[in-house]
Amino acid sequence: MENVVTVDEAAHYLKVHPKTIQRWCREGRLPSLRIGNRYRLRLGDLERINPSQLDHRADAVAPVAESMKPAVTPGSVGLRAGLPGRARILAVANQKGGVGKTTTAQALGAALADRGDRVLLVDLDPQASLTASLGFQPAELPETIYSVMGAYLNSDESVDPSRAIIAIDQYLALLPSNINLSAAEVTLPNQVRREYVLSEILAPIRGSFNWILIDCPPSLSLLTINALTCADACLIPVTPEPLVTVGVGLLFQTIARVRKTKLNPDLEVAGVILTKVDARPSLTRGIIDDLRVTLGERVPILGEVRASIRVQEASATGMPLTRYRAAADSVAVYRQIAEVLYAARRAS
Ligand SMILES: Nc1ncnc2c1ncn2[C@@H]1O[C@H](COP(=O)(O)OP(=O)(O)OP(=O)(O)O)[C@@H](O)[C@H]1O
Ligand SMILES: [Mg+2]
Repeated sequence: MENVVTVDEAAHYLKVHPKTIQRWCREGRLPSLRIGNRYRLRLGDLERINPSQLDHRADAVAPVAESMKPAVTPGSVGLRAGLPGRARILAVANQKGGVGKTTTAQALGAALADRGDRVLLVDLDPQASLTASLGFQPAELPETIYSVMGAYLNSDESVDPSRAIIAIDQYLALLPSNINLSAAEVTLPNQVRREYVLSEILAPIRGSFNWILIDCPPSLSLLTINALTCADACLIPVTPEPLVTVGVGLLFQTIARVRKTKLNPDLEVAGVILTKVDARPSLTRGIIDDLRVTLGERVPILGEVRASIRVQEASATGMPLTRYRAAADSVAVYRQIAEVLYAARRAS
C-alpha cells in the first residue's frame, strides 16, 4: 500500500501551514483522500508537487490538466509506441444499478495508466461515485463535466474541458461530476444535436489521451446516449444474477438503436465483464451459461471479477483499486482485461 500522511505531516513536508493544505485539499488543488472530515494525502503526490506553483494558480485544476496535454505525439514520453495519438473512447454502461460500472471504469483506467498509457476517466453520473471513489468531494469541486457542458451550451465557440480535469497522477486524470449534472436531464433534451454534446466537448482533448473511459449512470437516459454516441466501443459490466439476460437485452436494443439511427453507426461492443461473481458455483454458473448463449459469439466475456471485500474497501480509501491492493485477484483480472483491450487496439 502507498504511504499516506496526515495534513500536519503534509504541511511539515511542504513547509506550509496545515490550513493551507486543508484549503488545497478542499479546492481540489492537491489530490487527497477524505476519511470522515479529515484529509489524508499520498506521499507520492506530495513528492510531485511544487507548493509555490500551487498557491499562485488562478485556476486550481486546469494547469494540472495542462501538464498532461503536451505529450501528444506518438513516441513522446507517456505514449506507448504503437498506440495512435487519439484516444479510444470506451463507455462503461449498463442501466442496471450497482453492477460495477464505476469500479470497472476506475480499475481498468488505472490498470491502463499503470502500464504507461494516458487515461482520462469521465464521470458521467450525477451520483459522482467515480469522483468520490478517487478521494474528491464532488460538492466542493468548482468545475465539473456539468460546468463544462454549461459553458459549451452557452457559447458559440468550442470549450476547453481541461479546465475541469484533475490530474490524479502523470498518466491518470479525471473529468469529475457532481449532483448538478442531474440538471442535464432537463436542459439537454432542448438542445440542438443533444446526443452529440459530450462528443463535442471531448473532441479538443481526444489527442491528449490514449484512452477515455466514461462511467455512465444507471439508466438509458440522454447522458448514456451521449456516451454511446461518442464512444468507439462500450464495455458492459454484468453481475450474474437471475433475470440478468433481460436487462442486458434492453441495453443491446439501445446500442442497436444508436447504430441504426446513425448517432454512432460504428459503435462496437468491446465485451462483457462479469462482476461481483459469487464464488459458490451452483446458481451463478447456470446464469453465466445462459448469458453466454444470449451474447452469442460476437460479444466476448472479457473477464470474471469475483465478489471481494477488497474492492469495497478500495472505493472507501479514495485510491484506485490497482493501487490500493495491487496484488488482489480482482486487480489481476482488470489488468488482464486492460491487456486484451490494448492488444486488440494494436491489432486493429
Ligand atoms: N468485485 C466486487 N466485489 C465486491 N464488491 C464490489 C465489486 N465490484 C463492485 N463492488 C461494490 O458494489 C457497489 C456498486 O459498485 P459500483 O458503484 O462500481 O457499481 P455501479 O454499476 O457503478 O453502480 P451505479 O449503477 O449506482 O452507478 C460498490 O459498493 C462497490 O464497491
Ligand atoms: Mg456507478
